[in-house]
Amino acid sequence: MAQKKSLNQSEINRVWSDEWKKELHSPKTLFAQRLFVEGYPVFKKYIPIGAQTILEVGAGSGRYGLALARDLAGTHVTLTDIVDESLVRMRHVASELGLTNVAIQKEDAFALSFPDDSFDVVFSDAVIQHIPQHQNAVKEMIRVLKPGGTLILSSVNRWNIPHVSYKKALSLIGKEYPYGFERTFSASQLKTLMRRYHMQNITTDGFYFAYGVYRWKAHHPIFKKIGGIVNRTTRVIDAVSGRAFSKYFGFEVFSVAQKPKLHVKYSGLFMLPTVEDKARGDLMMAEGEKSIPFAIKRIYLIKGIPEFNAVRGSHAHKKLDQVIFCINGSFELNVEDGESQQQFVMKPTGFGVRLGPKLWHTMTKFSKDCIILVVASDYLNEADYLRNYDEWKEYLKNHPD
Ligand code: TYD
Repeated sequence: MAQKKSLNQSEINRVWSDEWKKELHSPKTLFAQRLFVEGYPVFKKYIPIGAQTILEVGAGSGRYGLALARDLAGTHVTLTDIVDESLVRMRHVASELGLTNVAIQKEDAFALSFPDDSFDVVFSDAVIQHIPQHQNAVKEMIRVLKPGGTLILSSVNRWNIPHVSYKKALSLIGKEYPYGFERTFSASQLKTLMRRYHMQNITTDGFYFAYGVYRWKAHHPIFKKIGGIVNRTTRVIDAVSGRAFSKYFGFEVFSVAQKPKLHVKYSGLFMLPTVEDKARGDLMMAEGEKSIPFAIKRIYLIKGIPEFNAVRGSHAHKKLDQVIFCINGSFELNVEDGESQQQFVMKPTGFGVRLGPKLWHTMTKFSKDCIILVVASDYLNEADYLRNYDEWKEYLKNHPD
């Protein structure tokens, strides 16, 4: 069987359950794996200093999360996987290492059991490539990440030509790829995925170009030798190019991004619960006093804005509470609380920004197809508007929090 385009999730879990049924690793053999040896230091340098809580989603053998728990004093690492056999492996290594700062638990990446905003860092290595509905897992990772927290997300690289052609060659000769469903992402596709969910890109990186070459060695031992030469060469190229080679052509690439943190008052970020259906599309819902923090009395839409540089808003309200969404196209939202201001590029991702009472807000840079949806806590009342900037400043002075 050549690689199927869409294994269902239970077939994928079975592939990994079989993989993790193999002989248990000792810490020594686990941490000696070449892919780990090449990847770990690169990942580790992006864990922010002082991170206290780390979640690993789809931890598999547990090599990254367990090594982080071992190496980062003051850190608590939660390792999760949906496959029971993976949990057995991770527990075995954790106990051999005598780690007391880890929790190992079964979790479904599509429905994590943790509350919103729980972890300083969420890490997931080479998991989304095996999940056809990877967006749902990414959204969950972002949900449980604290505002200001770091998400590190990696995948097999679509520009690692040796690996991609390896899979193609297997498929041409009718052989099964051992890991079931596997797609690839480029570093820039990962960055786009992050941006889609309003994550702020910190950087992208990658590692171990030569692993794609080593993979061929099952078919001919010469590839072991070639892999060694390629690895030494790419190390030199990386050293002189600031990792530019591995960043684009590594076996794995990854994105490091930060969950936006609101520093303006009178605001908030809201992510609408979404029911995604590959064949029939996404259904997003906003419920008053649930996903929206007030009872909804009014909704309004703004659309058909002909000018990119048109300006809407540019006012605040005294009492009115609102949440603004982009439901098509894009626009830029600027919010200001009198002391600080913030900007968001709004896209139709289900993320809404609260425009609470006293928050000055301005919308601009509208795409031609932009459609804005606002849910509001009250009916229209012109007396509630503060349309003049100086008048608003005066109002803030006279109405402290
Ligand atoms: P306004 O709130 O000033 O929109 P913007 O700041 O984007 O320009 O409203 C523009 C006009 O539309 C104003 O005359 C009031 C009217 N309006 C309604 O009739 N109902 C509504 O729900 C809203 C928001 C505005």
